[in-house]
Amino acid sequence: MYICPLCRQPLQLTGRQYGCASRHSFDLAKEGYVNLLPVQQKNSKDPGDNKLMIEARRAFLQSAAYQPLSDAVNKLVLQANPAKILDLGCGEGYYSGRLQQALSPAAGLCGIDISKAAIKYAARHYPDIRFAVASAYQLPFADNSFDSVIRIYAPSDNPELQRVLKPQGRLISVNPGPNHLVEMKQAVYREVKLHSDVIKEEPGLVHTQRQQLSYRLAITEPQQLDNLLQMVPLAWKFSSESRQAFVAATQSISIDFLLDVYQLSEATAISPPTV
Ligand SMILES: C[S@@+](CC[C@H](N)C(=O)[O-])C[C@H]1O[C@@H](n2cnc3c(N)ncnc32)[C@H](O)[C@@H]1O
Ligand SMILES: [Zn+2]
Repeated sequence: MYICPLCRQPLQLTGRQYGCASRHSFDLAKEGYVNLLPVQQKNSKDPGDNKLMIEARRAFLQSAAYQPLSDAVNKLVLQANPAKILDLGCGEGYYSGRLQQALSPAAGLCGIDISKAAIKYAARHYPDIRFAVASAYQLPFADNSFDSVIRIYAPSDNPELQRVLKPQGRLISVNPGPNHLVEMKQAVYREVKLHSDVIKEEPGLVHTQRQQLSYRLAITEPQQLDNLLQMVPLAWKFSSESRQAFVAATQSISIDFLLDVYQLSEATAISPPTV
């Protein structure tokens, strides 16, 4: 299923090691994931989200605050009854884990993230999903591998998406809607700029569905809001005083997600290799 990140030939698993015909090898970690991110593809020593961000996100997601999003993603994925699915930039696997429970046992789910700490956590908690440390810009998968790719707040590379999707394959993309966490913005900006709701173009893919998911999240305890602040890029705009005041004063917050479905257009599908 995996291809070698160095020479792009297929990888075979022998014992606890993946190897290609050119003898590049990658060990299966004790947690069950494989690191397919060669140093050449790293832009820093420890790329992606760090342990602190991951712990905060984990604690926040465990509070079920974004469970409606996870349910909506699962519904969209299941519409097409996919056999092979990739969670791109899966973080510590919250959405993959809930999706796995909703899928038929025959379906295969993979997750990649550039953060080793996130993948380590994901592999430990969801042993039935295949996780790899890898870059979204150079995916370690063969052409035409997936029926569905989910991308929740994660970066991607359009040619790579087109390459790994099967003909008719679908991308399910989640981004913030205009009012997402607007109260947080109001606390730090004089003039609030809302997120755009323009449908992003994905060359080679056709947009087929848009769903907006909006609700007010009641804050159950200050720690929950503190965790949410830790997860978002806006957090650094707060001073420690303004952050404390915001946490103390906020009882609920606007949640607004845009879910978009795209399908690989016939014209761009890579023909499967002829045998
Ligand atoms: C905002 S988080 C979203 C994580 C997860 N999808 C969720 O919603 O809980 C973005 C994720 O993208 C990962 N990431 C950043 N750059 C990446 C890259 N070039 N390739 C793969 N993952 C990347 C980060 O490590 C992080 O886990
Ligand atoms: Zn190789």
